[in-house]
Amino acid sequence: MTTCVTPRSNFSARARILALVALSATALGLTSNVGCGDSDGSGGGADCTTVKGYSELGVAFSKCTNCHSSELTTPTERQSATVGFDYDTYALAATDPAALIEQVEDDEMPPSGSPTLTETEKTDLLTWAECGTPE
Ligand code: HEC
Repeated sequence: MTTCVTPRSNFSARARILALVALSATALGLTSNVGCGDSDGSGGGADCTTVKGYSELGVAFSKCTNCHSSELTTPTERQSATVGFDYDTYALAATDPAALIEQVEDDEMPPSGSPTLTETEKTDLLTWAECGTPE
């Protein structure tokens, strides 16, 4: 697969989020074989016309909730997943879409050793986070 991802550097948090959104758009373009740039005419954003709601993303989110669930309370149960980042309900999942993008975009989540997201699931989660986290 062609790679056209800009290396990350020490941006401000805000610039980092903007850069990550741009990176996500690039990745989404690649998975639909559009390549780099704005050849889909959308101006570089995610294509929100095909966004799936949280209720349709159960299989993808199930690859997060064995650690990130409000029902898991101890660090052992959570496998040290950061407290406050949970995906077992819509309201919790929709709390911080930028953090999800940051972790999923560059394959930091799910962590190695856990079931990985398929390319479709990854794209679906990123699109969901970029397109207003529909329910
Ligand atoms: C095996 C357990 C595990 C799974 C599965 C998992 N995570 Fe995590 N997650 C962690 C741990 C541990 C951390 C904290 C350490 C780190 O950042 O690597 C973390 C951190 C995070 C953070 C960062 C919170 C912060 O401090 O900014 C986000 C966001 C996140 N995970 C999202 C996800 C998403 C989305 C999924 C599913 C696609 C997922 N995680 C799957 C264990 C997990």
